[in-house]
Amino acid sequence: MTFDNITVSQIIILFTIYSFMGWVIEGVYRSISQRQFINAGFLYGPFLPIYGSGAAFIIGLQYFIHPWPLLVQLVVYGIILTLIEYFTGFAFEKIFKLKLWDYSEHKFNIQGRVCLLFSLFWTIMALAFVTFIHPAVLRYVRSLDETLLRILSIVIVIYVFTDFVFSIVSLTAFKNKISYLYSEYFNLSDAEIEKIFSSFKRLRTAYPDLRRYINNNINTGIKNRMSTFLKSIQEKIILNMEGRKPFENEFYDIINDIHTHDEFLKLKLYYHHNSSIYDHVMDVSYFSYRACKFFKLDYRSAARGALLHDFFLYDWRNHDVPDLPAEKNHGIEHPKIALANARKHFMLNEIEEDIIRKHMWPLTLVPPKYKESFIVSFADTYLASKEFVSNFKRNKTIKREKKQADKHKKKNKRRN
Ligand SMILES: [Fe+2]
Ligand SMILES: [Fe+2]
Repeated sequence: MTFDNITVSQIIILFTIYSFMGWVIEGVYRSISQRQFINAGFLYGPFLPIYGSGAAFIIGLQYFIHPWPLLVQLVVYGIILTLIEYFTGFAFEKIFKLKLWDYSEHKFNIQGRVCLLFSLFWTIMALAFVTFIHPAVLRYVRSLDETLLRILSIVIVIYVFTDFVFSIVSLTAFKNKISYLYSEYFNLSDAEIEKIFSSFKRLRTAYPDLRRYINNNINTGIKNRMSTFLKSIQEKIILNMEGRKPFENEFYDIINDIHTHDEFLKLKLYYHHNSSIYDHVMDVSYFSYRACKFFKLDYRSAARGALLHDFFLYDWRNHDVPDLPAEKNHGIEHPKIALANARKHFMLNEIEEDIIRKHMWPLTLVPPKYKESFIVSFADTYLASKEFVSNFKRNKTIKREKKQADKHKKKNKRRN
């Protein structure tokens, strides 16, 4: 294959055809995996220029490496296509602060931008492309009348340029709205947040990883604000938690019917991190109550939802209980079990239900709907790790003391 006798219009038409083929491939793949029609790519029109660029690179490379052994050619294709995918992803993240695709859950990925499985897939595609697709398409394009090609390519260039400009404008607007969302998250109502999300429905369906990425960023934002908040009131809250000071009456009024309920009191019998589930949920509840009060959120629902978030009556280390059969994963199952128990004994509002169901997010795939749920989930992780660390330190101290005692004993024995 050579570049001989190929005109600029033919190159433009080829680029368009391959960008269109890419749009079809992605569209079919995404539509099947999401079970709805997806207009793939960030352009409005049916083109994915990244495929056109990939094809251009492959054609160019083929010109130089076609005498090489097939295996070496394949490795070169794989590397080049992976580099294109990596740098396109990188550019979108840097320029638009958006992650359009994310392979971080695939094995052997690099920063979620590329992964081995897809790179292998691109390599096979490249082989099929140079062997069958490109020669046939090139033959067809060459058979077309040059004047027709010229007119077509002018129309396409104008069209794609316009589409590109509008798409970039829309992407920039999206980026600005999202950064507004990050900074103003706590000051916006849930309806306003939903409005921002729904104004970019096409982009979000075209790139399902986008919502997860945005949610992660919001979660990080909340964590940062929480740690500022923590620094200011940590001592106070922890003091109250350690029982040196009683919790406020208001807190008890909010949770009164729950924390005195017979079924709920059974949580005292089950060991959790390094205390009973009862102690753990009381801590998470009080912490969430204080945090939500600070952020002027619905602290009542936060306190109640948090109190019920681990309402499961079994020892999770022992799988053989009716609530949690051996094949089920406690981490994923227990929010559902807790919710079912909570519903059985108490009246729950929507926020409380969301708090219980999503407190293990991102383990449970659907992200929290309410800010209160993010906070409870944060408080749960924060306090559980705090419990874990203090437990670890305590065990270490016990071990050290035991070692010293043993040493002492041995010494005494020797003396005697
Ligand atoms: Fe939990
Ligand atoms: Fe928990």
